[in-house]
Amino acid sequence: MADETILVVGGAGYIGSHMVLDLLHAGHAVVVLDNLSRGHRDLVPGGTFIQGDLGDAAQLDRVFAQHRIAAVMHFAAFSLVGESVSKPLDYYRNNVANTVVLLDAMARHGVRNFIFSSTAAVYGEPREAQPLHEGDPCVPTNPYGATKLAVERMLADNAAASDFRYVSLRYFNAAGADPSGTIGERHEPETHLIPLILQVATGERATIKIFGTDYPTPDGTCIRDYVHVNDLAQAHLFALRHLMTGGGNAVYNLGNSKGHSVQEVIKLARAVTGHEIPTVPADRRAGDPAMLVADSGKIRKELGWKPRFESLRTIIETAWAWHSKESRRKKTSP
Ligand SMILES: NC(=O)c1ccc[n+]([C@@H]2O[C@H](COP(=O)([O-])OP(=O)(O)OC[C@H]3O[C@@H](n4cnc5c(N)ncnc54)[C@H](O)[C@@H]3O)[C@@H](O)[C@H]2O)c1
Repeated sequence: MADETILVVGGAGYIGSHMVLDLLHAGHAVVVLDNLSRGHRDLVPGGTFIQGDLGDAAQLDRVFAQHRIAAVMHFAAFSLVGESVSKPLDYYRNNVANTVVLLDAMARHGVRNFIFSSTAAVYGEPREAQPLHEGDPCVPTNPYGATKLAVERMLADNAAASDFRYVSLRYFNAAGADPSGTIGERHEPETHLIPLILQVATGERATIKIFGTDYPTPDGTCIRDYVHVNDLAQAHLFALRHLMTGGGNAVYNLGNSKGHSVQEVIKLARAVTGHEIPTVPADRRAGDPAMLVADSGKIRKELGWKPRFESLRTIIETAWAWHSKESRRKKTSP
């Protein structure tokens, strides 16, 4: 199984590039398709790179005709919550309609196995007690979450009607970087908490805004479940083995099952970087739940997945190694 060819759509992005690295380490041949709308060519660590759009059926036909693809891992999407509110149709087009084009192409070429990057945003503002289970109600509060839930539904319907098989992985907050220091998170604009905090430590930002200090949490700031990007990639390898050995369709949460508040993250980042990291309190953002923590018991039990980078300190240390290097790169590149 290790020498199968895997198509990684969106492999020039943050999580996709870590996936490519892990697939190569595991001995797979990798084909990356990415239009570089949000990704970076220099972050693709190897394999065959094709610059192309997910919505281009003719391009997909060429990819599937030229390579014997055993499974598709689908990371390509727009994923900025605020942007999804102001440009919902862009999100439905890229995240949903373009995924239809991909699934159609897979069907034309007899490729059955699919692993999808879903998100905790499908749960919306949870009313149930936390941690969240896969069976909890999914009521997304923004178009981004709605597009991901729409794809999950489409995968289930497609699997019911054909021999297509899939695993949907609902990531909580992806964070950290590969310990090699060669790849990491380079979102432009950056909206994720840990990189924003670390950009204060590198001097790229003056302060970090804390959105909401009056939440019903122990220190008043939001609690999230941070999961290391390499642990996400590892989960895909487990999901791939599951599908390739005849396992059934499944939806899994992926988090550390432990929450950390914004204040806790800042405190640890201060300890890791030795920087003061000044903060500015700000109003709550609409649709930001007080707490989002995964119960990842299902994937642990069914696939044997277990995070290797559980400690938030390690997550921040690996991210810091990357961001301090990125900051030097930005200063020297024109
Ligand atoms: N980062 C997180 O914390 C997080 C959490 C939950 C879910 N996710 C999901 O995981 C996936 C990867 O997230 P990420 O943070 O690596 O995002 P990213 O923006 O870094 O990567 C996405 C990649 O997809 C590419 N892409 C987008 N549209 C495309 C298209 N039409 N054709 C070809 N390529 C296209 C982009 O150029 C980019 O390289 C996304 O689907 C996202 O919704 C991410």
